[in-house]
Amino acid sequence: MIKAAVMGYGTIGSGVAEILDQNRDVIAKQAGQEVELQYVLDLREFPDSPVADKIIHDFKVIEEDPEIRIVVETMGGLTPAYPFVKACLLAGKHVVTSNKALVAAHGTELLRIAKEKNVNFLFEASVGGGIPVIRPLYRCLMGERIQEITGILNGTTNYILTKMDREGESFENALKEAQNLGYAERNPEADVEGHDTCRKIAILTAMATGKEVDYQDIYTEGITRITDIDFKYAEKLGTSVKLFGTSRMKDGKVTAFVAPVMIDKSNPLYSVSDVFNGIMIKGNMLGTSMFYGSGAGKLPTASAVVADIIEAAQNLTSHVELGWSDEKQSIEPMDQASFRYFVRIAGSYRNKEQDVKQAFGKVEVFELYGMDEFAVLTQEMKEGEFKAAAAAFDEKEQANSDFGIKQMIRAAL
Ligand code: HSE
Repeated sequence: MIKAAVMGYGTIGSGVAEILDQNRDVIAKQAGQEVELQYVLDLREFPDSPVADKIIHDFKVIEEDPEIRIVVETMGGLTPAYPFVKACLLAGKHVVTSNKALVAAHGTELLRIAKEKNVNFLFEASVGGGIPVIRPLYRCLMGERIQEITGILNGTTNYILTKMDREGESFENALKEAQNLGYAERNPEADVEGHDTCRKIAILTAMATGKEVDYQDIYTEGITRITDIDFKYAEKLGTSVKLFGTSRMKDGKVTAFVAPVMIDKSNPLYSVSDVFNGIMIKGNMLGTSMFYGSGAGKLPTASAVVADIIEAAQNLTSHVELGWSDEKQSIEPMDQASFRYFVRIAGSYRNKEQDVKQAFGKVEVFELYGMDEFAVLTQEMKEGEFKAAAAAFDEKEQANSDFGIKQMIRAAL
């Protein structure tokens, strides 16, 4: 029998306890022996829960118990998750985590310690919840040169954008609904500002390149400036807007970003809606493969954690090579990334046609009935070129009372 401990009895931690109990026989068969949950570390008491007699409040109990071989971290955040996980690895215990903030910020160090101590640090649940994506990257796709990863990696923002798209809701109302349904936190910043997606694409990029990726190097823009008017245009164009985490690898150079992107029905991610996640991985031999499913939630995420517990149990005396090295992967400046751009401009196209053409070259033009504005879709150009063109256009426009550019959304059309 292998003894395990869970740190953090929140949504995911309680899901892990539930699966360890309900799927006890399946897990024992795969792991080669029974996995027994010995301790659950939490600040709170849970007198009516099935783990009431396992609750402890002192981390040292786990750290100093040599019988605990696998520790599950489902606390979230960095403090005290980081010092606790580090201490467990240093004590020669395997660690499984669902914590993307921890993996993105300290993964390099924790992977190194795991290797030195001949144990495993596993984090399948940190990206895409229950969707298998980390393991496919280091197992099934190990012979591929990964060229691109593009994902809808955040269920909360995908739910909000889907509501705006289908029901014409404003961002504020869609967010409120997501909060009422428990899909969005009371403080939604990490999701709506793109920080959660940023950490997830940083982890996937590090997996793909085998090098450390600093998530702070990734250009990150959330969905707070997307409006119902944008979706009115999107409908006219036969498109939608999704929050993408993308990294592209070419000739040793990596561009990566988090931003809302306009896509049409031909894009496989178009139909990834509501709280679901979808991840497209393009390999040089494979072509494109897509992973789809529940990117969050108690049992889907706990399911991925339990698979990692089994992997640790199968490799109790050996270190599984996965992850990335200490070598840093540089990320190209966002100005080097190429897109088409959907741009909304105040006034009428009739009056501004010459200036628009002069600034952006050949464009497609769209107008909504009754609006004192129009929109254009540019040809593909580098972000640096677009910014220069947009600045030149706005400078010319300053003399006009209905001044300038109102919105820009990158487009993959
Ligand atoms: N808030 C996150 C999401 C949870 O909506 O995807 C899973 O990381």
